[in-house]
Amino acid sequence: MNHRYYGQTVLVTGGAQGLGLAMARRFAAEGATVHVADRNTEALEEIETEITRGGGRVQSHRLDVGRSREIDAWVGAVVDREGRIDVLINNAGIIRDERIERIGDEAWDDVIAVNLTGAFYGIRAVLPHMKERGYGRIVSFSSMSWRGNFGQANYAAAKAGIVGLTRTAALEGARSGITANAIAPGLIETPMLASMNAAARTKLVGRVPLGHIGDPADIANAAVFLASREAGYITGVILDVDGGIGIGSSVR
Ligand SMILES: NC(=O)c1ccc[n+]([C@@H]2O[C@H](COP(=O)([O-])OP(=O)(O)OC[C@H]3O[C@@H](n4cnc5c(N)ncnc54)[C@H](O)[C@@H]3O)[C@@H](O)[C@H]2O)c1
Repeated sequence: MNHRYYGQTVLVTGGAQGLGLAMARRFAAEGATVHVADRNTEALEEIETEITRGGGRVQSHRLDVGRSREIDAWVGAVVDREGRIDVLINNAGIIRDERIERIGDEAWDDVIAVNLTGAFYGIRAVLPHMKERGYGRIVSFSSMSWRGNFGQANYAAAKAGIVGLTRTAALEGARSGITANAIAPGLIETPMLASMNAAARTKLVGRVPLGHIGDPADIANAAVFLASREAGYITGVILDVDGGIGIGSSVR
């Protein structure tokens, strides 16, 4: 495996399962020291053991991305320990799908807090340090739903918020060697997708031009590229990794 991340420190939120776990494994395999944060303590312990046994460098932290004090403490501790943060991956996310009239205050607030505010807290926490070093890569998670999706008003609003946040972070970081981009996944095989209504899932898969659900490795491939030195002239981009579903109509 390519060791292009050797010596770099990579932060991944929501890294205990799904896409975050796939990215943590991949960054570690490419030589990075990976700091994984999640609220699922049990799964964190398992992945720390797994990656360490495989010869990778990983540290796990229990936190809730919706709490700024916890994010600030985590980022501060990583800077103290490693002396650098090269990459922040804002991946933690949740869904609470309902039609608008049925979305309660809590389902609205929780989805915005984790998917959008959590990414804002992460970016705000790492920026001073990245600016000081004159280098940084920020990759946040939007979704194909950012354009609007039936039954996902809270999630779509949060993921559209990621687009504005990312493009603004790109402008504010640009003079300091920092890029900010987002990945907008389509349907990717993870526990989140498994929790989706089965009928809706079948209908959606039928609309994927490439004809199949994506694998977490498809997302990890995009993330290790956008977070690399080589991607240094790419900023403010929302990269669809979705088998073409974001193109629109796919009637065959
Ligand atoms: N899987 C897909 O098809 C898909 C599609 C579009 C976008 N996404 C986005 O990709 C990202 C990863 O999705 P996934 O499918 O791997 O989801 P997942 O549910 O499988 O994993 C999400 C992880 O985030 C963690 N998490 C949730 N709330 C948290 C919080 N408050 N603090 C810390 N950690 C928290 C969970 O414990 C879990 O480990 C999310 O932002 C999601 O919205 C996924």
